[in-house]
Amino acid sequence: MGKTAIAYYSKHQGNTKKVLDAIKEYDPEVELIDVTEKHEADLTKYDRIGLASGIYYTKFAEQLLNFAKVNLPTGKDVFFIATAGNPISMNFNSVASIATSKHCNEIGRFQCPGLDKFGPFKMFGGIQKGHPTEDDLKNAVEFYRNL
Ligand SMILES: Cc1cc2nc3c(=O)[nH]c(=O)nc-3n(C[C@H](O)[C@H](O)[C@H](O)COP(=O)(O)O)c2cc1C
Repeated sequence: MGKTAIAYYSKHQGNTKKVLDAIKEYDPEVELIDVTEKHEADLTKYDRIGLASGIYYTKFAEQLLNFAKVNLPTGKDVFFIATAGNPISMNFNSVASIATSKHCNEIGRFQCPGLDKFGPFKMFGGIQKGHPTEDDLKNAVEFYRNL
């Protein structure tokens, strides 16, 4: 296994970061890059690049998508991680199309529910309460382990 970096955006509840922290605990070598702190990064030295985000208006966060457009080198092995109030497969479309445009090779995608207090859901204390759960985190590590 070569070097791995994961660029992420996790600002609503820190849900996606929780998933990445679990992965980092399993593999301390993984490099986590917060795209709100770092707008440019040399990713050529990594063998595998993860792109991770909460889902906003059915897409990966605009900042994460922009980061990928600017910094994702062509032809890399890539994987995607998302947390969402409504974890459906189309949530990956935005990020997958950028990876495709860069001729990258997708090696996997993982998504789990994340506490969502957006808009009207706030009134009920949010939906997907308690997520990501311990089981979600276990599944995320299992996904990463099998990449
Ligand atoms: C402004 C906003 C828009 C959102 N839009 C969606 C959406 O379109 N689909 C969805 O499944 N979840 C949506 N959510 C819920 C988030 O994807 C979910 O809470 C996610 O786990 C947040 O990740 P984070 O805490 O890592 O930022 C939205 C949340 C916010 C705050």
